[in-house]
Amino acid sequence: MSASTAFTTAIVPAAGLGTRFLPTTKAVPKELLPVVDTPGIEYVAAEAAEAGATRLIIVTSPGKDAVADYFRPQPELERTLEARGKTELLAKVRRAPGLLQVETAIQEQALGLGHAVGCAEGNLRGDDEAVAVLLPDDLVLPSGVLTRMAAVRAKFGGSVLCAFDIPREQISAYGVFDVAEISQSTDVGFDPADVKQVHGMVEKPPAAEAPSTFAAAGRYLLDRAIFDALKRITPGAGGELQLTDAIALLIAEGHPVHVVVHRGGRHDLGNPGGFLRAAVDFALEHPEYGPDLREWLRERVGGV
Ligand code: G1P
Repeated sequence: MSASTAFTTAIVPAAGLGTRFLPTTKAVPKELLPVVDTPGIEYVAAEAAEAGATRLIIVTSPGKDAVADYFRPQPELERTLEARGKTELLAKVRRAPGLLQVETAIQEQALGLGHAVGCAEGNLRGDDEAVAVLLPDDLVLPSGVLTRMAAVRAKFGGSVLCAFDIPREQISAYGVFDVAEISQSTDVGFDPADVKQVHGMVEKPPAAEAPSTFAAAGRYLLDRAIFDALKRITPGAGGELQLTDAIALLIAEGHPVHVVVHRGGRHDLGNPGGFLRAAVDFALEHPEYGPDLREWLRERVGGV
C-alpha cells in the first residue's frame, strides 16, 4: 500500500457538549463556530481530504445533527446565489459538501475520546486497514502532517501520531509520548529527525512525571487494531475511556507506534481563548478584513 493510499476513512469526534462555549452551544455546536467565516470542522475536513481521505465519519451526539447537515448540499441556496451571479459565495457554499463523503456515528453518552472513536467501528469498511482520526479542536498548520504520517506508516507499519514539542509547564493538558530515536535509516521524504519511535504514552500526566515534552496534537493514523484495543481499556484520566490508553495497550503488546514531530503552528479551538487567537490569526491573513483589523488592533493594544 503506498503512502498516498494509506487511508481513505477519517474519523472526527464531534460529540462533546461544548461546555466551554456555553451559552452559545445551547443551540450551535462548537464545531460550527466560524473562524472568520468558515466553521473549524471544514478546515479539518479539508485537511483530511487533502491527505487522501474520501470518507469522513463524524461521531456526533443526539441533537447535534447540524454538524453533518453542514456537509449536505443546499440546492435552493445554490440556485439563489447562481441566479444572483454570486459565484464566489457559491463556491464557498459548495466547498464542504464537495470535500468528501460524510456519514455519522452516534455516541449516546459522553464516555471519553476513546469511546467516541470506538463508536465509528460500525461504519468501517472491510478494506479500512487504517483510519485517520482528526480532533476538530486542533488546527495544525500548515496542513500536510497526515501525509508525512502516512509515509511513516508505509515504512514502519502500525500506527503513527502527530507530536508537538510543548513547554513542560503545559504538558499535563495532553497525551504525552515516551519516545526514542529510531536506529534504522528513514527515507521518508522529510527530515528523519522528526520521526521517533514511541515506547509508551500517558494521558495528562503531572508535569514532573511526563516522560517527555512531546504531546499528542489531535492527528492520529491508527491501525485498525485500535478498535480491538478500545474494547479492552478501562476508564483512565478523568474517569474517561481514553484513546491514549488504547494506544498504550497496543504499544505494550508490541504494535509499532511512531510520531511525526510537527514543527509548524497550532490553534486550540476548544476554548474561547484559543478560538479567538485562531480567528484573529486567520482574519489578519484575510484580504478583505486583514488590513483594517491589523490597524485597529495596533490602536486598541497600543492604548492598553
Ligand atoms: C485530547 C487527547 C490528548 C491530546 C489532546 C490534543 O485531550 O485526549 O491525548 O493530547 O486531545 O488536543 P483533550 O484536549 O480532549 O482533553
